[in-house]
Amino acid sequence: MPPMIDRRALIAAIPAATLLSACNGHAQEGGPTAPVPPLKMAAPFAVGTCVSTDSIDDPPLRDLILSNFSQLTAEWQMKMETILKDDGTFAFEKPDAIVDFAGQNSLRVHAHTLIWYAQNPVAFQRIDGKGSAFAAAYRNYIAAVAGRYRGRVVSWDVVNEPVSDEGGTLRDCLWSRNLGMMDYMLSAFHLAREADDQAVLFINDYWLEKRPEKRRAFMHLVEQLLKAGAPIGGIGSQTHLDIGVDPASIKPAIHDLASFGLPIHISEMDISTRFGARNFSSAQDRSAQQARLVHEAVDAFMGLPAHQRFAITMWGVRDSDSWLANPPNPVDLDRPLLFDAEGRPKQAASAFIAALSGR
Ligand code: XIL
Repeated sequence: MPPMIDRRALIAAIPAATLLSACNGHAQEGGPTAPVPPLKMAAPFAVGTCVSTDSIDDPPLRDLILSNFSQLTAEWQMKMETILKDDGTFAFEKPDAIVDFAGQNSLRVHAHTLIWYAQNPVAFQRIDGKGSAFAAAYRNYIAAVAGRYRGRVVSWDVVNEPVSDEGGTLRDCLWSRNLGMMDYMLSAFHLAREADDQAVLFINDYWLEKRPEKRRAFMHLVEQLLKAGAPIGGIGSQTHLDIGVDPASIKPAIHDLASFGLPIHISEMDISTRFGARNFSSAQDRSAQQARLVHEAVDAFMGLPAHQRFAITMWGVRDSDSWLANPPNPVDLDRPLLFDAEGRPKQAASAFIAALSGR
């Protein structure tokens, strides 16, 4: 992680005119009228967003990314679905473009993701059940991919979403069936460490705030993996929330997850205004509740010791870019991010900034 500087003192020392010219403009949707400073300038930790090669090729979006974010995650272009071709060979053009762009602009890359139950590529399906061939291809994939980006990414989500939503069981998947439930994870962490001796290795999952029983199962898994010697270096909490989630559920989750003493990554934050909307009668109420949840998450994160604040990553920049805005959800039904479709900071962005300075 980069050396921490006192950004509050830094911001206080910047002449107001300079700060204003670097600002995002005025918050939208009933937010305060004060301009919102660039997120990365205000935060004493890395602030990330997910991107694709299309987003970094889109000038207005690229400018917003460069002014507000200090870390990138590929939304899908570092997953198996992009990298592993049907014939078992690798396609690195897209991930290379993202990693190169980050390097050219001094942004960190958090790489996402090596092993995920939701990715079942043809190249692995073909050897499903073929013991040693499957294990060899697994080793080869992690070695090739983590090895290629060694020294160019700061971290990896090594295992993504291992816990099921109900009942706290571990997900049965292609990887667990072929390699064993604990062994597929243990071995992924060891292989990633062999390929990249520097990257912080994360285990990452979702709904750890709104489903305490899922969080307990996740934490039990982390404990077992650590005991078995897995080189887990950080805990990722995706933080895909919606405005129906109780803001009071956020702090206990961050507090629990931090109890391992490892860095925490709020790794994919978005707050749907569509799900959970029935309790809110106006768009303004929905925005206010979204801002409250963002405030709670950032405030909880700020409550961690500095060495445990790995990053907060937003799952996109503008509402219109969000995966939740994709059909069949028309964009005007969900506004889950910090910037509106025109790139103007929302009330949630002001709340993010306010929480950084304890306001
Ligand atoms: C999502 C992307 O946002 C979509 O564009 C893609 O089609 C599917 O995956 N948890 C994760 C992310 O770990 O990789 C997912 O990203 C969102 C849920």
